Parts: sequence; C-alpha cells; structure tokens
Amino acid sequence: MVKIDNVCKHWPRSTTAAVNGLSLTVEKGTLVTLLGPSGCGKSTTLRLIAGLDLPTSGRIEIDGRDVTSVAPEARGVSMVFQNYALFPHLSVRDNILFGLQVRRTPKAEQALRLAEAADLLGLADLLDRRPAALSGGQQQRVALGRAVVARKPILLMDEPLSNLDALLRQEMRHELRALQRKLGLTVLFVTHDQAEAMSMADRIVLMKDGRIVQEDAPADLYARPRHAFAARFIGAPAMNLMPLEPGPDGPVVAGTDFAPGAPDGATQFGVRPEALRPAAQGLPVIVESQDYLGAETLALCRAGTTRIALRLPSASAPLPGTRLALGWAPEDAHFFRADDRRIEPAGATSMARAAPRTLIPNMEH
Ligand SMILES: Nc1ncnc2c1ncn2[C@@H]1O[C@H](COP(=O)(O)OP(=O)(O)O)[C@@H](O)[C@H]1O
Ligand SMILES: [Mg+2]
Repeated sequence: MVKIDNVCKHWPRSTTAAVNGLSLTVEKGTLVTLLGPSGCGKSTTLRLIAGLDLPTSGRIEIDGRDVTSVAPEARGVSMVFQNYALFPHLSVRDNILFGLQVRRTPKAEQALRLAEAADLLGLADLLDRRPAALSGGQQQRVALGRAVVARKPILLMDEPLSNLDALLRQEMRHELRALQRKLGLTVLFVTHDQAEAMSMADRIVLMKDGRIVQEDAPADLYARPRHAFAARFIGAPAMNLMPLEPGPDGPVVAGTDFAPGAPDGATQFGVRPEALRPAAQGLPVIVESQDYLGAETLALCRAGTTRIALRLPSASAPLPGTRLALGWAPEDAHFFRADDRRIEPAGATSMARAAPRTLIPNMEH
C-alpha cells in the first residue's frame, strides 16, 4: 500500500541526513509503527509520505502509484498530528467537517459521514462544543474524526497519544486499534514509546539515526533483537547487557569467572530481567537495591563489573546484600558482536538460524 524505496532527506544546513536510505513496505490493512528515540527521523519520514516535505532522493509509492512529488491532497492519505491541530474558534462539528466543507462535498454526504464518525468515536453529544471545552482524550477523538470523515485509505499518525495521561493512553490504544480493524485502514503510526508500539502494531520499524535497525513483528523484535540497540530499546526495563572478557575456557562475564557459552566473536552477553531466576548454579551476583513495583520487584544486582536487573514476584524478591546464582533458559541468552550486531550461539536451533527477514511485512501476524 505504501512503499518507500531508498529515501533520503537532508535538511538544509544540517550535516547529517534526517532520513538516510530508508526502504519500507506497509501492507494494506495493517498497522505499522515507526519507533525510535527522539530525533531519529520518524516525523520526517511521515511528512515525506504525506507530501508535506519532499525527499532529497528516493521514491515513494502509494497503492502502486509513484507519488514522490505529488501534492499532499492527491496522495490519498490523512494525517493526525501530536497537537491535534484543531481550530479553537470552530465547534467539534465544524472541526470534523472542515476538510469536506473546503472541498464542497454535498451537504447530505457531509451529514452522513459526520454521523458515522461521531457514532464511531462517541462524539455525538459534543458536536456543538469548542475544543477548549473538551478533555485531551476528546480532542484526540475529534482529530481522529476529522481524519475518518476524509475516507482516505491511509492514515498517518505522529505521536497521537503522547499528550494524554497514562490511563487514557492505554484506552486510546485499544480504541485506535479497533477503529483501524473496523475500517480496514492502513495506518502508519509514529511513537517513541516501545510499549505503545508493542501493544498496537502488526509490524514495528525500529529506527536510529535516520536508518532502520530492525523491522519485525513485535514478538520477534522482543525475542530476537538483531542489534544491541534493539535489545536495549524493546522491553522495560531494558535487556541486561554485560561485556565479555577472555577466560580460561572461553569468554566470561566481565569481572566474574562465569562463562555463558558465548560463540566466537561475541563481546556482549544479554539476558532480559524477566528471564533471570535464582538457580543452584549460574551467574554469581550480589543484590544491591530493590525497586518495588507492586506485584513485581526489580532486584538491582552487581554481576562482576556490570549492574543488572532481575525481575521477580515481590513476595520472592531477595533483600539487598543477598548473594545469588542466576540461571535462564538457553533461548533467553543473547550475544552481540563489538559492532552491536547479533550473533547466534553455537548449536542454536534451526528456528533461531532462520534467514533474516526481508522488509516485506508478513501477513500472518
Ligand atoms: N524542518 C526541519 N529543518 C531542519 N531540520 C529538521 C527539520 N525537521 C526535523 N529536522 C531534523 O531532522 C532530524 C530528525 O527529526 P524528526 O524527524 O523530527 O525526528 P523524530 O520525529 O524521530 O523525533 C532531527 O535532527 C531534526 O533536528
Ligand atoms: Mg517527531
């Protein structure tokens, strides 16, 4: 539905490219998130697809048509911005219908689409209000309503939930996802929040410095990060990454004599806080402090020269000062090279050795 081929964007007076050779395909009817830290080029990518800015090089296709230099309104996309961009002096009704009024859509058709959007988004009782008299979540729905009545097949959203409080954000994730499915929309959704991306997306495109680090289904990104950056960015708290140093029988976790079975070329060993558990033998650590989270507690431990986190049910969390050995399942061990690329452990299963995924989304997710 959307195909970006080797797109670059250099902003004037900037030495680095905001988007640097990005290639990406978004399949029809899927929700894809662009995820990454602030400044990695997510908004720029979205604006290039919307036609609000033009790429320095590369090609953008929508529905099989080259739209690289086509005007925004002729691309078949609508966009929802982080600040909602509502007109303060217009009612909810006129905010939603603004685009249709400008395009002189027949009045009867306007009324039909308004009724449908208001019903879908629970705005029917609010149509006469001004934006100032709405909550953040209601304003968000009005911005969505405006995008929905345009009936464009592609919806681009730039951090649409980041101004909402935590509870509302979680509700809106579900609402948005339900709406996307119901209308069969193709959605490209920008966020810096990995939990938001993980809970909503069919596919996640993880970006860093204008490039794609990994493009995968959420569960695959979590289970098999192809880069130490992906390992650190996905999951909360982040994956523990421990430097390795030479030992008598192969690499050991720095500052310990524990060998995690690292393959040749590995310089970092990673294991997630939730994959660690106290064991009869394993990685020796000492608990330094605790972070109480309610049902669970993070035990912050020293493993040789590195601080790592261990996530346990609060009832079984070890007290500071406790010495423990930690174990994990073989598939929970991750290894990375000095250049941060993933390396499979020796004797990895055939599934773990599967060929790298292509950038074509996999429809079974
Ligand atoms: N209009 C602009 N003019 C110059 N530089 C810009 C402009 N918009 C964004 N940038 C730069 O491009 C890079 C990527 O920005 P952006 O796409 O907004 O990142 P993100 O949305 O991931 O936070 C940043 O370094 C930012 O400063
Ligand atoms: Mg942005």
